[in-house]
Amino acid sequence: MYTIGIFASGGGSNFKAIAQKIAQLNLPITCSFLLTNNSKSGAAQKALDLKIPVHHLSAKTHPKEDERDAEITRIVQESNIDLLVLAGYMKKIPDGVIAALPQRIINIHPSLLPSFGGHGLFGMHVHSAAIEHGAKISGATVHFVNEEYDCGKIIKQQSVPILDDDTPENLAERVLATEHDIYWRVIEAFSKGNVTINNGRVYYSGT
Ligand code: GRF
Repeated sequence: MYTIGIFASGGGSNFKAIAQKIAQLNLPITCSFLLTNNSKSGAAQKALDLKIPVHHLSAKTHPKEDERDAEITRIVQESNIDLLVLAGYMKKIPDGVIAALPQRIINIHPSLLPSFGGHGLFGMHVHSAAIEHGAKISGATVHFVNEEYDCGKIIKQQSVPILDDDTPENLAERVLATEHDIYWRVIEAFSKGNVTINNGRVYYSGT
């Protein structure tokens, strides 16, 4: 069984979509935990519904950042996961986690990176920036996670046209639907060994 862990902070719609596909298609993938900084998040609620263990670590539970980071790192290391999936996790990933899982942490971002990514570009800011720039195409990007925001190598992208009368909210809705359609595919590809890196290039074969 291929084992993943999920980090999420918000509504958790990506986490829900992934869990739904795994169940629907009976994929040999199991989610061993959800880690969140927000115990009231939709993601945490969904995990409880699915009886997936939830780890809640925040400035409230662990006021000292270094202690919090050490605990997050310990949880990840002891979990023996194959892949760490970030699904709307709004906090910095501790260096220890990044070091523990080289090329085994992925994130999804609601634009075609490297456009409209980086510090401060999250949530609706991403879509507002794309519309303000007059971009004609946006989309979703799944990428590896490294020390810098939204800078790891790209694994899969799916474009979404930006319509002339789009609002950030309309665009966000269509991009989110696209995220739900591609994230589980990338996880499935990882589970089958269909994501490889050779000479610094990422090769993806999957649907
Ligand atoms: C998504 O738009 C994702 O691209 C970004 O955070 C958002 C999470 O949404 N990283 P949800 O919590 O999965 O609904």
